[in-house]
Amino acid sequence: MTTWDDLAARHDAARDRTILSLFDDSRAAGFSARAGEMLFDYSKTNIDAETRDLLIRLAEDAGLAARRDAMFSGARINETEGRAVLHTALRNPDASVMVDGQDVMPGVRETLSRMERFAEDVRAGRFLGQGGAITDVVNIGIGGSDLGPAMAVLALAPYHSGPRCHFVSNVDGAHVADTLKDLNPETTLVIVASKTFTTIETMTNADTARGWMSGRVADPAAQFAALSSAGDRTAAYGIAPERVFGFEDWVGGRYSMWGPIGLSLMIAIGPEKFREFLAGGAAMDAHFRDAPLAGNLPVLLALVGIWHNQICGYATRAVLPYDQRLLRLPAYLQQLEMESNGKRVSMDGADLPRHSGPVVWGEPGTNGQHAFYQLIHQGTRVIPCEFLLAAQGHERELAHHHRLLAANCLAQSEALLRGRSLPEARAIMEAKGLAGEELDRQARHRVFPGNRPSTTLIYPRLTPFVLGQIIALYEHRVFVEGVILGINSFDQWGVELGKELANALQPVLEGRAGAEGKDGSTRQLIGYLLENGGG
Ligand code: F6P
Repeated sequence: MTTWDDLAARHDAARDRTILSLFDDSRAAGFSARAGEMLFDYSKTNIDAETRDLLIRLAEDAGLAARRDAMFSGARINETEGRAVLHTALRNPDASVMVDGQDVMPGVRETLSRMERFAEDVRAGRFLGQGGAITDVVNIGIGGSDLGPAMAVLALAPYHSGPRCHFVSNVDGAHVADTLKDLNPETTLVIVASKTFTTIETMTNADTARGWMSGRVADPAAQFAALSSAGDRTAAYGIAPERVFGFEDWVGGRYSMWGPIGLSLMIAIGPEKFREFLAGGAAMDAHFRDAPLAGNLPVLLALVGIWHNQICGYATRAVLPYDQRLLRLPAYLQQLEMESNGKRVSMDGADLPRHSGPVVWGEPGTNGQHAFYQLIHQGTRVIPCEFLLAAQGHERELAHHHRLLAANCLAQSEALLRGRSLPEARAIMEAKGLAGEELDRQARHRVFPGNRPSTTLIYPRLTPFVLGQIIALYEHRVFVEGVILGINSFDQWGVELGKELANALQPVLEGRAGAEGKDGSTRQLIGYLLENGGG
């Protein structure tokens, strides 16, 4: 019997037990853990002490502690790309981290200082556009070169003290056109964010932005900066080295917002607040390294995830921030979790014996309540929910809004836990004067099965430090899930085929090549595009 088998047996045995029945006076405290001031409550899941022990055994069986130490120490744990995984080094600039016998931290510190000087110059009006001080920054990037800074710039809006920041990612010309149309090219800084500096969407948008600027600005390249590992390509693009901020191949795209890819965030909130963001990430790193597994937040999030997805078979996971400024967190986590753990083979190339990571999706509350929560409460599938909530908002004069927000968040997890039984629903209908068959029929529509799992991550306030903690928490959660599943969370070969086929289809849509060899559906769609002016 493996630990996986034990867990499956445990799940079978607990099938008829409700989560609510697990609650006694110690349940909430016993199935919660803290990192600093942050509290993670997973008591509203069907995990009991024995199940938790088995889940921890799963992590131990997978050699989690050794893998974690290997990551932090710069070993090449991204085996399919032969790379170390050291985004953690970016948020711990005073450390010393060796890769292949060389301390990589002097380079990290130097780049951070250069970013800080540049950000301050932009913010203070020392770095000028042709028309004067920079009023707007446009970050052009996609995936990891967009989602992190876009999410964080919105999340930390109360801390903005620099120029306005905009993000262009989609190759759909609508995105760049809508973004640039109200901006002044003479006071706009364009940041081209691309680790490889080859990504077609980013380079197409960068070319368009350069064209837009060249109509009004004598030297557009002087208002461009680049965030990239490919110094040769940024030079060929004409961006002067003093505005190129590089990073090493041991920073994966979706883990890169802690370094140069975070430049737009640094310009928005200033270097000091950016350092607080880094410190939050570093604090979570320390917690992940030092806290025992049973009280370790990233480990617990991962174990709850494994329990729900691989053991209980719940295929999706809803991320529900009761925090409007975390609007982009679900999209950010989709890349972080699904690009990292959406794999079909284990590290050694063998087929996975079980499902890989879940579908991650979500929206802020309370908006989601008026959209898709119906299905979460009464649909036939179980969807584990992850709530996030701050004790306080930033709008102190609107504290009554925040109380309503918090009440709704707690009410949702309570409703998922308790549900509403048929007798309770009948009593409500009876009180409304219904009787007989109509009462029965109406009551059945008002039954909530309950017993639906959720977790809540609660923190004092969404400060730069706390955001850093949250993002590092999710990064390590993905890492732990990946280790337990035996997969490489740091490559992304699954995005390649679509890119190759798109490159091959472009000449077909331009009428320079035929569609021979394509399947009938693709040929039909090409035909439609060409007949309707899409070529
Ligand atoms: O979608 C694949 C991917 O490689 C992501 O992993 C990455 O974040 C994104 O493309 C952008 O890549 P780059 O920063 O090289 O432009």
